Amino acid sequence: MCGIVTAIATNNIVPVLLEGLRKLEYRGYDSAGLAVLSGELTRLRSAGRVAELAALADARQLSANIGIAHTRWATHGVPSERNAHPHISGGLAVVHNGIIENFEAIKTGLQARGYVFTSETDTEAIAHLIHSKLQGTPDLFEAVRLATNELVGAYAIGVLAEADPFRAIVARRGSPLLLGVGEDGMYAASDTAALLQVTRKVVYLEDGDLAELRRDSYRIVLADGTPVEREVHLSSLSADAVELGKFRHYMQKEIFEQPQALANTLELIAGGGGISPQHFGARAAEVFEGVRRVLVLACGTSYHAGLVARYWIEAIAKLPVTVEIASEYRYRESVPDPDTLVVVISQSGETADTLAALKHAKSLGMERTLAICNVPESAIVRETALRFITRAGPEIGVASTKAFTTQLAAFALLTLALAKLNGRLSAADEERHLVALRHLPVAVQKVLELEPEIEKWAQRFASKEHALFLGRGSHWPIAMEGALKLKEISYIHAEAYAAGELKHGPLALVDKDMPVIAVSPHDQLLEKLKSNLQEVRARGGELYVFADAGSEIPESEGVHILHMPEHYGMLSPVLHVIPLQLLSYHAALVKGTDVDKPRNLAKSVTVE
Ligand code: M6R
Repeated sequence: MCGIVTAIATNNIVPVLLEGLRKLEYRGYDSAGLAVLSGELTRLRSAGRVAELAALADARQLSANIGIAHTRWATHGVPSERNAHPHISGGLAVVHNGIIENFEAIKTGLQARGYVFTSETDTEAIAHLIHSKLQGTPDLFEAVRLATNELVGAYAIGVLAEADPFRAIVARRGSPLLLGVGEDGMYAASDTAALLQVTRKVVYLEDGDLAELRRDSYRIVLADGTPVEREVHLSSLSADAVELGKFRHYMQKEIFEQPQALANTLELIAGGGGISPQHFGARAAEVFEGVRRVLVLACGTSYHAGLVARYWIEAIAKLPVTVEIASEYRYRESVPDPDTLVVVISQSGETADTLAALKHAKSLGMERTLAICNVPESAIVRETALRFITRAGPEIGVASTKAFTTQLAAFALLTLALAKLNGRLSAADEERHLVALRHLPVAVQKVLELEPEIEKWAQRFASKEHALFLGRGSHWPIAMEGALKLKEISYIHAEAYAAGELKHGPLALVDKDMPVIAVSPHDQLLEKLKSNLQEVRARGGELYVFADAGSEIPESEGVHILHMPEHYGMLSPVLHVIPLQLLSYHAALVKGTDVDKPRNLAKSVTVE
């Protein structure tokens, strides 16, 4: 979603703003803009890419020591130059990430006072509101504080004013924002990647914080104006981790990083390490004690990871598991049980619905909370009693890949830890699972070698308008994940079904134009799945089967088989998702879509 960069420095900050925006492009956006102060306020906006904004800045030979910049993902108002940020009120400019829920009321009040709105955005209301506060106080920082106290909803904002050219103000509640402490200046941005070009020293702002940035200093206050100190962290994010290197797309890079991402995530059990609640934090044994059920809350791909985990936890730890879409759970009247372990899963740790669902669960008295997350300092991680940080490294492509497989690795450890605590895991079984987990990166590497064959399949796929994905058991969520990947980046309509459901409706869709992709591991459901595949074939449907070695599904006309290197027991879903990621990637390449930044989508969904 929207990205923010703010800079005030001794040098020209225009290149810093533009490079910061380039690094935030992955979050998803449809327009971009910036405002700088150099004697007067200059604003540039483009209803296109950051490159177009950079060209505008070049043409103007723009140079300044203070500025704010923004990539916009449209919420209020269509993507257009008029709605692009910054928004201006008098000599004051504002960029904003988030949604202001009471903006209509604020707007009506401001219009009554004579403010004229030129855009359809909620952000313009913030600009005018701050401007109106300046009528009562000469201090910009205080005006921003008073204005933000009236906002309901989520925001991260950057503000500068012509009349006050030696400081920029930033504030956050609900949307991510961090400060960068540089040698030659002070910065703020939506994530660290945008600031690595100038500094590794970062300060994570908390909800309600406001900060004043000057060239050589900064100060932070709480919403009531009380000064507060926040720790300075040294980011270990490597600049390489956010570079494409030899790859054509981030999604491709991230698919191929999975062996290393899994090895990093599973480092805890490398060598002689056994299964322990400690993997989830020092207090984990205490929090897990007496847990009678598990509730998983997540969105999108992370939700699919939770669905796989349900099969594992119920089968091995023998605890009942409910998996809920966060945006549904937060508004549903559910029956809380304090002995529930609430597990929230999120790559970004900033997903608004997941964060709200977590807060909702806590408000219902469920305090045993665990975050499985890829971003250590994210909002979700800061809200839970326990945390497991997947070590996938930054995931830039909008389509989630390595985050998913590392989430599954985390869930495998959780399953075994809960089983061990409940006396459901024998020493021999623990050892067997540990061997499989330690070998997982190598097993994934072997699956990646199937890419050339998958590429050929993708050629045939790309001309299709629809596709059906089938799976059974713990591979049903893998079919769902495959369908999500395909529609997300290739725009081919795809549905996933538990294969046994086929004849209860979706079979009516099957004809020669409907490719059917079957996730077909060599497990106890294989024979059942084979019968389902016969049902498809009998209706002329063309089958693409991802089978394990030994699955014995013969290739024939209309039945294409790709053999996975080995059957991988409980962890088989981790392997089976890889060819589906590759299939979507290559189908998207053939179709020529914007793989890393698919239309209408954002990487980090920080609004409801
Ligand atoms: O950051 P999160 O894991 O909380 O994000 C949840 C979903 O928005 C995300 O998984 C989305 O579905 C992906 N784009 C799918 O590839």
